[in-house]
Amino acid sequence: MTDPLLSITGLSAVSERENGAPILRDVSLTLTRGEVRGLVGESGAGKSTIAKALLGILPRTVRITGGAIRFEGRDLLTLPAHELRKIMGSEISLIPQDPQTALNPGRRIEAQLTDGLRMRRGLSIREAHDRAAKLLEEVHIRDPERVLRSYPHELSGGMRQRVLIADAFALEPKLVIADEPTTALDVTVQKQILRLIRSMQQAHGTGVIFVTHDLGVVAQICDSVTLLYAGKVIEQGSTAEVLTTPRHIYTQALIAAGPRYDRPDAGLEPVPQSVFEQLRAEIGISR
Ligand SMILES: Nc1ncnc2c1ncn2[C@@H]1O[C@H](COP(=O)(O)OP(=O)(O)OP(=O)(O)O)[C@@H](O)[C@H]1O
Ligand SMILES: [Mg+2]
Repeated sequence: MTDPLLSITGLSAVSERENGAPILRDVSLTLTRGEVRGLVGESGAGKSTIAKALLGILPRTVRITGGAIRFEGRDLLTLPAHELRKIMGSEISLIPQDPQTALNPGRRIEAQLTDGLRMRRGLSIREAHDRAAKLLEEVHIRDPERVLRSYPHELSGGMRQRVLIADAFALEPKLVIADEPTTALDVTVQKQILRLIRSMQQAHGTGVIFVTHDLGVVAQICDSVTLLYAGKVIEQGSTAEVLTTPRHIYTQALIAAGPRYDRPDAGLEPVPQSVFEQLRAEIGISR
């Protein structure tokens, strides 16, 4: 198949909350089947807005002013609601940022993992149970039966994130959106979770949009990367290309600033003000 899995073209959005201030400026990117693309940029760059647009969960105060989001050729922005509902959660799913709040505290893991399998894939209670147990094994949970009987509060943060990864892959989606899926976790657990997402994605041939602040994470798990600033794509390409031969001075400055460029204390040198001035001039931001 030559068609990309996902192609965003000329996507623009404004904030109704901030007097129509631009949030996305003519964003274009593509994703082939089984590709992991990192979406990187500082806070407010528009990463989550793109993720939400892909999941059809944009807030009312964000207005799309142009462009298209084609998923296997269908424009998600113009698809009727009932068509969109068939895709969301099934063909496109989410690994959420915070495993604490993403699971329903009042329901056992089994109920939460089998809902979709039963309702959207028509599995029987028994079949859904067996499938859920297998999924938990796949995310390296040692005692799946015990975890299936557990409530979320009985599991550690890392375990909960494994459950959520199992859930994201349960219906064999073609595209998984991961919006900073490891920021709420301990550093030691973060690495394991990253490796797990990578291995699940490879085993299932799933495309992934991976939102992160961390160029180190991009280097570890992304095939390609799109760097955003103030809603504008500054540079994109294969991870190897962008990280070894960055073309834009902003990309160069970020790489010089270290893996966590958003945390000056962790990096070598912060991004110089002159780089931001050049960026703003290029994009046409007056402030
Ligand atoms: N609910 C909303 N309504 C209107 N505008 C919003 C809303 N949420 C965010 N925005 C605007 O969209 C811009 C981009 O926000 P977004 O959350 O996409 O950034 P981000 O790159 O995900 O940042 P972070 O790294 O902090 O998560 C922000 O500058 C903000 O002004
Ligand atoms: Mg965000």
